[in-house]
Order: sequence, then C-alpha cells, then structure tokens
Amino acid sequence: MDEKELLNRFQAQIDAEIKIEPKDWMPDAYRQTLIRQMSQHAHSEIVGMLPEGNWVTRAPTLKRKAILLAKIQDEAGHGLYLYSATETLGISRQEMIDALHEGRAKYSSVFNYPTLNWADIGAIGWLVDGAAIMNQVALMRTSYGPYSRAMIRICKEESFHQRQGFDILYTLSRGSDEQKAMAQDALNRWWWPSMMMFGPHDSESTHSQQSTKWKIKRKSNDELRQDFVDNSVQQVKVLGLTLPDPDLKWNEERQHYDYGPIDWEEFWAVVKGRGPCNRERIAARKKAYDDGEWVREAALAYAKKKKAKEVLA
Ligand code: 3HC
Repeated sequence: MDEKELLNRFQAQIDAEIKIEPKDWMPDAYRQTLIRQMSQHAHSEIVGMLPEGNWVTRAPTLKRKAILLAKIQDEAGHGLYLYSATETLGISRQEMIDALHEGRAKYSSVFNYPTLNWADIGAIGWLVDGAAIMNQVALMRTSYGPYSRAMIRICKEESFHQRQGFDILYTLSRGSDEQKAMAQDALNRWWWPSMMMFGPHDSESTHSQQSTKWKIKRKSNDELRQDFVDNSVQQVKVLGLTLPDPDLKWNEERQHYDYGPIDWEEFWAVVKGRGPCNRERIAARKKAYDDGEWVREAALAYAKKKKAKEVLA
C-alpha cells in the first residue's frame, strides 16, 4: 500500500471508532502530537503534586492529612500510567523527563501558582481536579487505545479528588467568618487559572482542528470550558461563595452561562515560564530526579542480576 492508501485506511479506522493501537500504522504527525499531549499530561500530573505536597505537613487534622496523601499518591500513579502509555509511541521515559527539565515540554499552567493556605487545597481539589475531570472524561473516548485506557483508570480516582476539595471548602464556608473569607479568597485566586487549563479559545488553538479530525480531542477547548463553568455555577451555590466573575450570567438563548474575558496575557506569560512558581517547580522536579538516582541504579542493578540468574538457570 502506498502512503495515500495507508492514510485513507488510518482515517477510516478513526472514523469507524476503532482504537489505534501501538502496533498499527499511524501518520508520524499523529504519533508526534500524541507524544506531545500525553507526555505534557503526564508532566502535569507529576508537577501537580508539588503545590499540594506543600500542605501535607500543615493539614489541619490527621484525617485531612491522610486524604491529601492519598490524593497526591494517586497523582503520581496517574503520571506513571501516562508516561507508560506515551512510551508505547516509541519515546523513552528519559527523553520525556529531559524535555521537561530542559523546558522543551510543557505542563499545565495552573500548577505555577502558590498554595498560600489550607483553603487553596480545597480550591485545587474542587476547581483544578474538576476541570481535569471535564477534560479527562472526554479523553476516555480518545482514538489512541493506550491513552483512552489510561484515562478510564484515572477518571475513576478523579471524582474522589474533586469531592475532597469540595468538602474542604464546604467545611470552611460553614466555619467562622475568617474561614469563610479564606475559602472565598482561595476561590478568587484559583478560578481564572482553572479556566485557563482548557487552553486557548478554539479560534486560537494550534492543534484543535487536526486533533479533532483524528479524534484525539472529542470536545473542543471552549466546549469543555463551558461545561466547567455551567457545572461550577451550580456547585458554588451549595458553598455559599461567589465565583469572581462579574460577567457571569445565564444566557437563555445559548442555554449556558456567559462568562467574562480570560487574561490571555497572564496565561501566555505563565506558559512561557514567567508564572509565580515556574522556576521553583522545575527546580523541585530536578532535585527529586537527582535525589532518586540511587533508587534507579539499585533497581537496574537488581534487574540485571535477576536477568543474569535467569539466563544461567
Ligand atoms: N498550560 C500549559 N500549556 C497549555 C495549556 C495550559 N493550560 N493549554 C494549552 N497549552 C499549550 C498547548 O500544549 C500548546 O502548546 P504545545 O504545542 O507546545 O503543546 C499550545 O498551548 C496551544 O494550545 P492547543 O489548544 O492548540 O493545544 P492542545 O490541542 O494540546 O490543547 C489541552 C490543550 C486542552 C491542555 C490538551 O493538550 C489536553 O487535553 N491535554 C490533556 C489534559 C491535560 O494535560 N490536562 C492538564 C492538567 S492534568 C491535571 O490537572 C491533573 C489533575 O489530576 C490534577
């Protein structure tokens, strides 16, 4: 078959909702955009552990500490699922880690903001994991088999992440005036960075059109963002807090909530490394990687010894 026939057969497989598997023929551009998106997704899970990790030793109760620890451990597991799924496309873990450390790969901008107090842990769980759920539920139907299966496993844990965050804010919003003010302040600081998680508007998106044709993306950036807004408006009523957007208004004609303008200047500044915590996050990742050298060496030495024994047996 020539390239044109291979391409037609590939697109027909996509259109017929047949998952693309690692051993299937695929256009290099499909492979490369999956490596880009999936490795950045994995990086986001791992870097996303840092803001919350800052509060494990400061959790207000043993129960909250145990819940937060469990959530952070889940995120590490999500990162490993996604790195492993990305490796099926022919890139090594080392190449992905190097790309992150050398600034050649992105991770979600939202993780470059500081966690100033315990209410931030609630806002991250409710809003950031809530936004991630919107995105990841759609990705369960993505055309690449290993990515879709990783998403199905990850989504099972995400609702617990969002619920525990909502519960933290619910507790604070029913506490003292100071606690309610803390919850509102955290909401004010995390709402817009969470809205930015869905990426640029569709009209500005570099990859959306092709990713949609290849059914990597099943809903557009703006569709997912709109679902997130509509959901959050209902949930925030239960908290008795206010979303920090004066332009938020039900649009009868659209049957959705209209929302105010996103500060894309801030978004691109953070994506390009000028956010409040970009340097700190990468430095922490590099230190963790260096500190873990001995573990990797020990595991490799053990694997080599085991292999040698098997060969001799
Ligand atoms: N932060 C950083 N970069 C972003 C971004 C964000 N919030 N949104 C978009 N970008 C980047 C894109 O990566 C792309 O740059 P690149 O070409 O160098 O990769 C550029 O901006 C243009 O954006 P596009 O819309 O054209 O890019 P995509 O089609 O890839 O759409 C996306 C962006 C919606 C984030 C998509 O990549 C995606 O769905 N990724 C998988 C989900 C994901 O990564 N979520 C991140 C959070 S994970 C998380 O929150 C874990 C939770 O458990 C806490």
